Amino acid sequence: MELRETGNGVDSWKEVNLIYNAALRQIETKMEILNEEFQHVHQYNPIEHIKARIKTPESIVKKLRRHGYESTIENMIEYVNDIAGIRIICSFTSDIYRIAEMIREQRDIHVLAVKDYITYPKASGYKSYHMIITVPVYLSDRIVDTKVEIQIRTVAMDFWASLEHKIHYKFEGDAPEHIQNELVECAKLVADLDARMLSLNEEILAIGQSQEERQ
Ligand code: GTP
Ligand code: MG
Repeated sequence: MELRETGNGVDSWKEVNLIYNAALRQIETKMEILNEEFQHVHQYNPIEHIKARIKTPESIVKKLRRHGYESTIENMIEYVNDIAGIRIICSFTSDIYRIAEMIREQRDIHVLAVKDYITYPKASGYKSYHMIITVPVYLSDRIVDTKVEIQIRTVAMDFWASLEHKIHYKFEGDAPEHIQNELVECAKLVADLDARMLSLNEEILAIGQSQEERQ
């Protein structure tokens, strides 16, 4: 990894790695706590599972190059928003907004940007809710507000995105048209499945509630 040292407070790849790892662990823990609390209050888990990863130095350099930036620590901190990335997978679309709201309400988290690809899916059919946030990482002599990319999506959206990513990678972003069209069709099926599973769940919850009221 050829990253020039800058001396802006964070000056080695090792230190960057340590800080982003700490930020990622904090967000992961926060999510686990929210999920446990939700289970305690509402008797159900909005989060199915969580995946966390640190971007490899190679893909950080690649991304910087793609955007025309020199490979410096300063540039990666400034311009690469997904060095620390966490993916939250939930059952229902409604859980996505619930989780996003809970994240927004955390006092030490600052939301820098939101992209709602659920309300506005990409042309590819991609759906997911993205947030770029910062979380303070407490070091021995200073506090570093560190960026984390959070992607929130349903199990079905995640299934679709994994296959689409694999296809995108295999064809280097230039998949045959019939495959692209088929992916768009599958995305519609995913959206339909998500909507039907949500309404089924709501119906079941409503039956449960009326049974409780009668007792
Ligand atoms: P990069 O795509 O990372 O360069 O950032 P961006 O600024 O374009 O942000 P965006 O929110 O569009 O995408 C961020 C991340 O979301 C990507 O790195 C992917 O993990 C995921 N993503 C975005 N679009 C797609 C898509 O069409 N298909 C799949 N499978 N994943 C996507
Ligand atoms: Mg992109």
